Amino acid sequence: MYFPDYRPRRLRRTENLRRMIRETRLSVDHLVYPLFVVPGAGVKNPVQSMPGVFQFSVDQVVEEARSVVELNIPGIILFGLPEKKDEIGSRAYADDAPVQQAVQKIKQSFPELTVITDACLCEYTSHGHCGILSGNEVQNDQTLEVLARVALSHARAGADMIAPSDMMDGRVAAIREALDEEGFDQTAILAYSAKYCSGFYGPFRDAADSAPRFGDRSAYQMDVSNAEEALREVSLDIEEGADMVMVKPALAYLDIIRRVREEFDRPVAAYNVSGEYSMIKAAAANGWIDGDRVMMEVLTSMVRAGASLVLTYFAKEAAALLQNRRR
Ligand code: PBG
Repeated sequence: MYFPDYRPRRLRRTENLRRMIRETRLSVDHLVYPLFVVPGAGVKNPVQSMPGVFQFSVDQVVEEARSVVELNIPGIILFGLPEKKDEIGSRAYADDAPVQQAVQKIKQSFPELTVITDACLCEYTSHGHCGILSGNEVQNDQTLEVLARVALSHARAGADMIAPSDMMDGRVAAIREALDEEGFDQTAILAYSAKYCSGFYGPFRDAADSAPRFGDRSAYQMDVSNAEEALREVSLDIEEGADMVMVKPALAYLDIIRRVREEFDRPVAAYNVSGEYSMIKAAAANGWIDGDRVMMEVLTSMVRAGASLVLTYFAKEAAALLQNRRR
């Protein structure tokens, strides 16, 4: 039997050998922790469909940010729920709304922590769509004006980075222009460039109360079957001024992460979304998989695919595990 004189198993024999040839290193530096901010005080509501995830009032989210900082996680992304929803999502750009207040307080206490804000209307509109409606259709250009206002209110509160997740055409340009006009030329934009119309957002819509009240998001989010179109979206967002681009969800779209990483010269973020988190939590709770092991495997796969950044509800657990391993 012919057998080439190369035996890959030689370098797999011991843990120290495996360490030496390891190609991908998941580090706490990759992680961004998502947080949900709600009205009120003293609130820490568990999200039923996402074990270990909570909705926090402003005072409580500052405490949660402290534990993120203690774990040496470099950034958070904030989502907000308003006291009241309306047709145009006007609480999304109110300076006294939960997200804006949370950004201010967190930046006061932890100026070094990178604070990213999700800029979208779906948590704030009575119909649950990501933009302004005319009849049953989301109006693109009208929505841009509102999104620019949202971004400005986040920047005024002190956000380091604005992350538009609405998938309107031209929103990166509209936000960049609004920020620059008001002197926020150092506020970065992390564009959800390739955001798919996915079933994996189910638990998030529970956490953010943002499920569309009719229809779905297929007229603005991307078709799951498309890859070339993702590259066109990324290319447009970069032209419009995106500092970083995102692929979302992550796990079923590792091919997209890889292609964006190879074809464009911008850092790529991957969003390990709510459904990806809850599936692992549910299977682990049933004893069907080893939750920690699968968590690390999945996060590593996103970095291996080319992500510089992984937004994940696992951030705190993964950071704690990485710390213990080093000891
Ligand atoms: C807002 C937004 C969504 C998510 C992030 N920003 C929901 C959606 O598009 O329906 C999903 C995040 C997750 O599932 O963890 N548009």
